[in-house]
Amino acid sequence: MNSAFEKLKNECQNCTRCDLCKTRTNVVFGVGNPDAQVLFIGEGPGENEDLQGEPFVGRAGKLLDKLMYAVDLDRNKNVYIANIVKCRPPKNRDPFEDEQIECMDWLRAQTRLIKPKIIVCLGRIAGMKIIKSDLKISKEHGIFFNKNGIEIMAMYHPAAILRNPNMMEDALKDFISLREKIEEICEHTY
Ligand code: URA
Repeated sequence: MNSAFEKLKNECQNCTRCDLCKTRTNVVFGVGNPDAQVLFIGEGPGENEDLQGEPFVGRAGKLLDKLMYAVDLDRNKNVYIANIVKCRPPKNRDPFEDEQIECMDWLRAQTRLIKPKIIVCLGRIAGMKIIKSDLKISKEHGIFFNKNGIEIMAMYHPAAILRNPNMMEDALKDFISLREKIEEICEHTY
């Protein structure tokens, strides 16, 4: 990991910018390859992530790993995974607007260092924060938006797919669109 990224991570581990620091076990900074060209962004850590200090390690994370694997993506190899908020909201409530605003500086700094070509927003909260505040995930999942030269797409959150297995067909199509976009704009090492 390069030293600027390591430094950012260390600073973030001590963050006290919002009240979520009072109830967290671990700051969940992110996982994966900081040189990846694809960045996945979720909403915030749940219980397992808070305990282990790594994003998407519970049931939803296992499903995310499977969907990524289907299109040759792997958190240990060629993607980076982060969240809008780095600390678990109590009882897994949606992160408050002020918590999201405070935490976005960390995500912006991470994104500047990773320099992804593609960003995938997992779920409504990440999509509304990163793509547009009136994003309708049911209508606009799978569509790429170009913002400042980065191709950004929202997908259904894997936890939503677990609750509604009929979303799986759309989710698979979105992962195939993601793979096609990778082939189109990323370097051949992918
Ligand atoms: N859900 C998220 O949005 N992020 C995680 O890290 C885990 C579950």
